[in-house]
Amino acid sequence: MKLLVIGGGGREHALAWKLAQSPRVQKVFVAPGNGGTAKEPGLENVGLDTTEALLAFARSEGIQLTVVGPEAPLAHGVVDAFQADGLRIFGPTRAAAQLESSKDFAKRFMVRHGIPTARHATFERATEAKAYVAEQGAPVVIKADGLAAGKGVVVATSVQQANDAIDAMLLSNRLGAAGARVVIEECLVGEEASFIVMCDGRHALPLATSQDHKRLRDGDEGPNTGGMGAYSPAPVVTPELHARVMREIIQPTLQGMARDGMPYVGFLYAGLMIDRDGNPRTLEFNCRLGDPEAQPILMRLKSDLVTLLEGALDGTLADATAEWDRRSALGIVLAARGYPEQPVAGDRIDGLPAPSEDCRIFHAGSRLDGTRLVTSGGRVLCVTALGDSLRVARQRAYAAAEGIRFEGMQYRRDIGNRGLRRA
Ligand code: AMP
Ligand code: GLY
Repeated sequence: MKLLVIGGGGREHALAWKLAQSPRVQKVFVAPGNGGTAKEPGLENVGLDTTEALLAFARSEGIQLTVVGPEAPLAHGVVDAFQADGLRIFGPTRAAAQLESSKDFAKRFMVRHGIPTARHATFERATEAKAYVAEQGAPVVIKADGLAAGKGVVVATSVQQANDAIDAMLLSNRLGAAGARVVIEECLVGEEASFIVMCDGRHALPLATSQDHKRLRDGDEGPNTGGMGAYSPAPVVTPELHARVMREIIQPTLQGMARDGMPYVGFLYAGLMIDRDGNPRTLEFNCRLGDPEAQPILMRLKSDLVTLLEGALDGTLADATAEWDRRSALGIVLAARGYPEQPVAGDRIDGLPAPSEDCRIFHAGSRLDGTRLVTSGGRVLCVTALGDSLRVARQRAYAAAEGIRFEGMQYRRDIGNRGLRRA
């Protein structure tokens, strides 16, 4: 069969690579893909981005299954369009994707269905938002309602900083329509984890647990990024906590979405904050796999991903199981100079090792310039390795990363530190 993956980041490289492992798959097209998917056996890039172009391609090429990587096409309704044409596509509809595309929608949903999350209020007027901040005090979290590519959340440590964020979003329109409404939240403390499940509208099949590193620099310092590295499993998610998250967050979410007339089919990512006493609360929902979490998670998946996705589309996930490699996996993001503010593109990438069973380089911001690989985005590569322990996976990934070179390459040296501390 022929498949299509929509997107061009590291997550999509990992998805397409994993799908191509299935003995039933002849070819995986990636739209638009990147320099890594261009070179990966079994994959082919197609330079398409509009829903109409993707639909026409899927029809003419006889694509039997499409998988959507990023949130933007979901929020634009790519799933609705494919379904209306009778094509199989895995991801939530535009309505269901509001769990990610509107923070206000997600918060109201969680309140309505008793799903644990931070206390919040939503505002469209700066004066009212500031009055609320004055009442709540700092620290406090200011979030743009809409999709803002990772730039929509300010964890304000002072009232002044909170007010500045409110002004930037509501008065200066710094984030455009996405910031025309703000959600103000209680600041939660604890340890974050990424809890990702595959959903068929009624049932959820949990993927392996993982943890991301959102800040640019070691020790969780510096600006927020899309994620500088991830590893799986995350020891902070004990079996007891896992059961609780399924019971208190994931299942009520699926039931709530179905009851609200928007049954959720697709990957669902709950960003969790786990407090000191081990209580989980939902920081956010994403309607997709995490990036870079997908890279270590998919390195560990032993089951056929195509079969699992078909089960999700057929509504039979209750009978499905996913088999995981018992090893740990860890991915280090190699970012371009200037990331995240102003990433510089066009630098030549050298020293990429050949992929092996336990170490692969997933590409994100790379493209082929003739036969040469050059940087083309902020997060350029994700070096992902498996190891019998988290420590071994980490050593293997760093050893591979150290041989790779491009101008101004930056990466964190402490990926996996929280997991190692717990292990
Ligand atoms: P979000 O896009 O909502 O996940 O927010 C991005 C990051 O901001 C999260 O990964 C957290 O590190 C932080 N964050 C979001 N909401 C809160 C909150 N209520 N309390 C503390 N930190 C938060
Ligand atoms: N790594 C965080 C995310 O994918 O949202």
